[in-house]
Amino acid sequence: MSDEGHAHDLVILGGGSGGYAAALRAAELGLSVALVERDKLGGTCLHRGCIPTKALLHAAEVADTARESEQFGVLAKLEGIDMAGVHKYKDGVVSRLYKGLQGLVKGRNITYVEGEGRLVASDTVQVNGQRHTGRSVVLATGSFSRSLPGLEIGGRIITSDQALNLDYIPRRVVVLGGGVIGVEFASVWRSFGTEVTIIEALPRLVPQEDESCSKALERAFRRRKINFQTNARFAGATQTDSGVTITLESGKSLEADLLLVAVGRGPSTKDLGYEQVGVRMDRGFVPTDERLHTDIAGIYAVGDIVPGLQLAHRGFAQGIFVAEDLAGLAPPPIVESGIPRVTYCDPEVASVGITEAEARERYGADGVETYEYNLGGNGKSQILATAGFVKLVRQKDGPVVGVHMVGARMGELVSEGQLIVNWEAYPEDVAQLVHAHPTQSEALGEAHLALAGKPLHTHD
Ligand code: NAI
Repeated sequence: MSDEGHAHDLVILGGGSGGYAAALRAAELGLSVALVERDKLGGTCLHRGCIPTKALLHAAEVADTARESEQFGVLAKLEGIDMAGVHKYKDGVVSRLYKGLQGLVKGRNITYVEGEGRLVASDTVQVNGQRHTGRSVVLATGSFSRSLPGLEIGGRIITSDQALNLDYIPRRVVVLGGGVIGVEFASVWRSFGTEVTIIEALPRLVPQEDESCSKALERAFRRRKINFQTNARFAGATQTDSGVTITLESGKSLEADLLLVAVGRGPSTKDLGYEQVGVRMDRGFVPTDERLHTDIAGIYAVGDIVPGLQLAHRGFAQGIFVAEDLAGLAPPPIVESGIPRVTYCDPEVASVGITEAEARERYGADGVETYEYNLGGNGKSQILATAGFVKLVRQKDGPVVGVHMVGARMGELVSEGQLIVNWEAYPEDVAQLVHAHPTQSEALGEAHLALAGKPLHTHD
């Protein structure tokens, strides 16, 4: 029970991945919880992000499988994409998960408050004129698709929010931003038959990833005839009834049916009372200490508003962390680099830990060893007709500090990569473990065998 003067132990502002995870775990631990949400429980991840986009990517994979079936001796024919059918499938997945989540929140006696909340005191969130007080408050208001100054979203200039629900397949699209959202949508549209060009300001696609992953993805995208221009600075866009013209600082211009703006997500923290209550802000984000506590006693922040990786599973982990901390379980702080990252384009890019470049900075140029195992030697990957690699980064004579992978289904392998990096395993430890044959996980096993000095199926 909460102490006198406070209706709840915990009031959570925002019911996305971070907020609802905090609510569920806190309730499980016996705390009394109010969860405030202005839109739909589940937030960006469930309604406008992870879940619907990965459904689109799966539909794209089915299309590719049908189109390329002949290479497996199966004579299927791709007759077309029925976007209404694709949306029905995608929306069906979302609505089943949404129902399940609503059931979970109801089942744990969480006070669910519908409406726009505002922080009006360090222990109070106001919703529709009603005050909800808590011994602690968790800010979990998430993020929105941002644009560039002077680039207004509307009509043929869209963000992922609109791209998710297009009822037609565009003929030509320019994607501004070769980060995670940019390459995932480029991948979906290409599979559906669209002509796609990605414009990226930095020298490579997915620039947050290890450079070798960017290079492998670029090679794969070239093969898939996905166009991209790196080191390309956007200058402006104009639209008419028939199309949109995108100009670059180089003077070059491109024509398309649509421009997808995927230049990052901004924190949703404006006009929510945070500054007024004294919460320190940094360019709209809410900085915290490693225990996710803000500068104001009793106020915590989780998810996309906290500087760092904007990933749903980071939000879940942070929400659980705060709930356990408040319940006195003293959980260890979350190590940001130990959070796995997966980009679900075709081929997938998956990683955990630090990149080779980061490792060289940390341990010195001579303090790092790497090994790249080519999926060309992996039976299951050959069966799936996918190309790519598993790359390990190890501190010289020390543990594996980074796992970086490109190829179909590599997102599923990152769970083992994550155990290896977070448990600070040595290649010699992993080399002893038996991987099932034929699986793609053998590629991880082989890479560790090689780094441990006993390569099996390697050609170099
Ligand atoms: P991002 O930060 O991953 O990529 C944005 C890209 O746009 C960067 O590469 C940047 O260099 C480029 N850019 C910025 N300004 C530009 C300009 N003027 N001209 C050309 N390029 C420019 O952001 P993104 O892709 O919008 O995603 C937002 C967030 O959502 C990310 O933090 C991402 O991790 C998360 N997300 C995660 C997914 C996953 O885990 N699979 C899927 C989708 C989103």
